[in-house]
Amino acid sequence: MTYQSPSKSNSVQASQLRCIGCGRVFEKAQQNFRCASCGDLLEIVYSDWNTRDAKRLDAAKLKALWRQRRTSGLPTDESGVWRFRELLPSFDEKDVISLREGNAPLYEMSGCARVAGLPQVYAKHQGMNPTGSFKDTGMTVAASVARREGFRWVACASTGNTSASMAAYAARGGMRSLVLIPEGKVSWGKLSQALDYGAVTCQLKTDFDGCMRVLNEVVQRMPVYLLNSVNPYRLEGQKTAAIELMEQLDWQPPDHIIVPGGNLGNSSALGKAFIEMRQLGLISRLPRVSIIQAAGANPLVRTIRENGGRELVSVQAETAASAIRIGNPASWKKAVRVLQATSGTVEEVSEVEIALAKAEIGADGIGCEPASAVTLAGLKKLVKQGFVAPGESVILILTGHLLKDPEFTLKFHRGDLFSGTGSEEEVSILRPQQRASIVLDATVDAVLQTLKAADDQLEL
Ligand code: F0G
Repeated sequence: MTYQSPSKSNSVQASQLRCIGCGRVFEKAQQNFRCASCGDLLEIVYSDWNTRDAKRLDAAKLKALWRQRRTSGLPTDESGVWRFRELLPSFDEKDVISLREGNAPLYEMSGCARVAGLPQVYAKHQGMNPTGSFKDTGMTVAASVARREGFRWVACASTGNTSASMAAYAARGGMRSLVLIPEGKVSWGKLSQALDYGAVTCQLKTDFDGCMRVLNEVVQRMPVYLLNSVNPYRLEGQKTAAIELMEQLDWQPPDHIIVPGGNLGNSSALGKAFIEMRQLGLISRLPRVSIIQAAGANPLVRTIRENGGRELVSVQAETAASAIRIGNPASWKKAVRVLQATSGTVEEVSEVEIALAKAEIGADGIGCEPASAVTLAGLKKLVKQGFVAPGESVILILTGHLLKDPEFTLKFHRGDLFSGTGSEEEVSILRPQQRASIVLDATVDAVLQTLKAADDQLEL
């Protein structure tokens, strides 16, 4: 393999890499994005936010500037990530690889509110990003760093969405990409994206955590740029979903943000954004950020419940929500910090609860992939527990598009998602949501009869 040596780039101004464990500050990260002293993760800090010319970071002026950019045709202004570039490491326009990511809609979800027992629930749908998941918001920043630093290869281990996003941004940026995914555990939709965008795609006979272990070795041996969420530039881009959300809410923080938890990069990024927005006077208080996991892939839930977040409890992960089938999450410490700083909580939900919530989100005319549906399933529990009170405002973060995993949806509606597993009583709560497709003779009468039967059923 031929490659260009990464050049020494010092064009990241005003931001530094700081270890979350020992606090050591670095100008440049190691290949694995771990602290050279203690091995902990790094985060980006903006050294001059306290000293920078006050006018540049004046909250009211920033809000006006970001709004004004919405009418601009400049690619970085059209991006829902780079529009907020004052809160990102600085970049030259020409160095940015963008697919006009971000710009994710905020929807009112009346059916979801009803099933959760609340007057109103909103969903920010990050599945509406260019490759169908929230990963694009972080990938635009980290892939741009990779190209600016002269890397020819980028790589990630993935449960599917990171690989789809990385492969797209690498292709747009003229870089090659290497994908490591767990064999048989990534939905076809996501796998097909990586292939179409030209990634070298390896299905390893292991799980996500195993893929991550292999990749960590690979990046030590070859000049391949790591694009998993241990890369702190990913999290900087992902922060902008929270900034965009606050703009959509006219800078009035909601009471609760509910996020799915897998490798725990997204919850860490959103929490970092809220904390920084408060620091800069863009918002006056923090929403509670709560993280929901599948019961079969619940390392953070166990970590909080068993030792208060001091030590990671890894698990052997198993869930049909394959995006969050992760037992050893890299960013667990960052997520614990977010929970503590925002007084959020953790909850776990069963496979049946996930499937039901996914169908309920679909029935609102929105839809999402299974991992995103843990948010509604978790919200129902948090309402029952009284953690979310009836008058409080709630935003669900939907992370992936419905079409990412059509197999799950088809199995659900056919009624064989839980064949052989799940008790009859538990599975029976899914029936009212199931809509099997109907095979008919090609006659008008057959269609009219079906229509009438469906209409009669509605009136019952
Ligand atoms: N939702 C979806 C749709 C995801 O793809 C992921 C993670 C998560 C939630 C969890 O986010 O890891 O930041 O806590 N997917 C990764 C991937 C792991 O490889 O695509 P997280």
